[in-house]
Amino acid sequence: MAENKSDKKQHYITRKESRQIAKENSKAIRRFEKAKKRKARPEEYVTEMKDENNIVEFEDLHTYFFSDAGTVKAVNGVTFSVPAGSTVGVVGESGCGKSVTSLSLMRLVQAPSGQIVSGSIRFRADMFKRDSRGRKIPVYETELDENGNEVPKLDSRGKKIVKKNELGGTMFEMERQVVDIAKMPTDAMRTIRGREISMIFQEPMTSLNPVFTIGNQLDEVGRLHIEGISKERVKERSIEMLKLVGIADPEGVYKKYPHELSGGMRQRVMIAIALLCNPKLIVADEPTTALDVTIQAQILDLLREIKGKINGSIMLITHDLGVVAEMADYVVVMYAGKVIEMGTAEDIFDRPLHPYTIGLQKSKPTVDQVTDELYCIPGFVPNPINMPNYCYFRDRCDKCMEKCSGEYPGYVQVTPTHKVACYLYQSQLNEEPVKEETNG
Ligand SMILES: Nc1ncnc2c1ncn2[C@@H]1O[C@H](COP(=O)(O)OP(=O)(O)O)[C@@H](O)[C@H]1O
Ligand code: SF4
Ligand SMILES: [Mg+2]
Repeated sequence: MAENKSDKKQHYITRKESRQIAKENSKAIRRFEKAKKRKARPEEYVTEMKDENNIVEFEDLHTYFFSDAGTVKAVNGVTFSVPAGSTVGVVGESGCGKSVTSLSLMRLVQAPSGQIVSGSIRFRADMFKRDSRGRKIPVYETELDENGNEVPKLDSRGKKIVKKNELGGTMFEMERQVVDIAKMPTDAMRTIRGREISMIFQEPMTSLNPVFTIGNQLDEVGRLHIEGISKERVKERSIEMLKLVGIADPEGVYKKYPHELSGGMRQRVMIAIALLCNPKLIVADEPTTALDVTIQAQILDLLREIKGKINGSIMLITHDLGVVAEMADYVVVMYAGKVIEMGTAEDIFDRPLHPYTIGLQKSKPTVDQVTDELYCIPGFVPNPINMPNYCYFRDRCDKCMEKCSGEYPGYVQVTPTHKVACYLYQSQLNEEPVKEETNG
């Protein structure tokens, strides 16, 4: 009986504690919301990349949810990067913080309870140059006058003619800047989201609006992000994108409603929307999970093909190791809000080191092995509100040693591309743990 009582004490919070948590939460939330709405000067968030070859660098990112039961540390010190032109796969069991990592990058974490608490997300962006009053600066058409000097070209009413960009919108003066997305105010983030980074979600039916046609929805995104685009050019661009994602009858699909399309077609439409503004980075969060196997393969082929065409990078989030094996150049393995191992796809698939990665590999069905039952990693992920201070995988690990009850293991750089957070390799390599560093 006494045992039951102490058990209860561990799992329940008193009304007084609950009030205290709510008070602290609202204080923290107010502070973060205020920071998001502030009028920030670019100097506050313009920064530099650690490695010039990267397009995104996450460094020690912490994203928490302030819930009434306590703080959920959904992303708890994540560091990794996406090299330009590559596909980085982020894998891990459900609930390990993959989606929250990608939503942090898009600055779409569910507020007010969800907030980026600390850390950096550096992104190489093409930002609009601004004049002294904060307005974007258009680029005008020019011509040579009789003395051979370049002068603005004027239309029949004597007005300067604005140059159009390759998407048919107004061309503005741009500058390449590295920005820290985690520190940007919401306003500045709006110029990046959709234009520079776009996201494909798991379930297209919840992202598409059932009462508007596919064409309406594509055009809407085009009009929103491509300033100065004409009505005709928007439609042209929408149809162009439907064609690019392999839709055989783009004009027909343009007029249809989402419910008239199959799941695979809807996901193609979502990809077309993501591609509308020529983003540098596409974040695909479980893009094939809601689809059946043959359609999955088609969508993955499409993503691969498109990456070549747009010359961009992909961050592919999935719980399915098979998907990353086919697509990714680099793999990041997450567990309970932390990165526990990362390396090239060969590193992770041919030489997995962390007992969790090895367990994930074992639990993947293979065609060349006959088994009665699939392997399942025993035990559960620890409660995200009360994370232990030792290795989060300890209670499920069959390689657990005495040391593993000590503090959370640091990273061991096993090869220049491969690193792992596990005591097994610190002892084998007789190396000191290294502090987190960005690495492809
Ligand atoms: N809106 C939310 N409110 C509270 N907790 C959340 C919310 N969204 C996600 N979480 C928690 O954050 C953790 C990570 O979730 P998520 O990133 O969605 O996992 P996954 O790896 O499956 O994508 C989970 O413990 C989840 O319960
Ligand atoms: S640190 Fe220890 S408990 Fe954690 S994964 Fe490595 S061997 Fe297992
Ligand atoms: Mg998810």
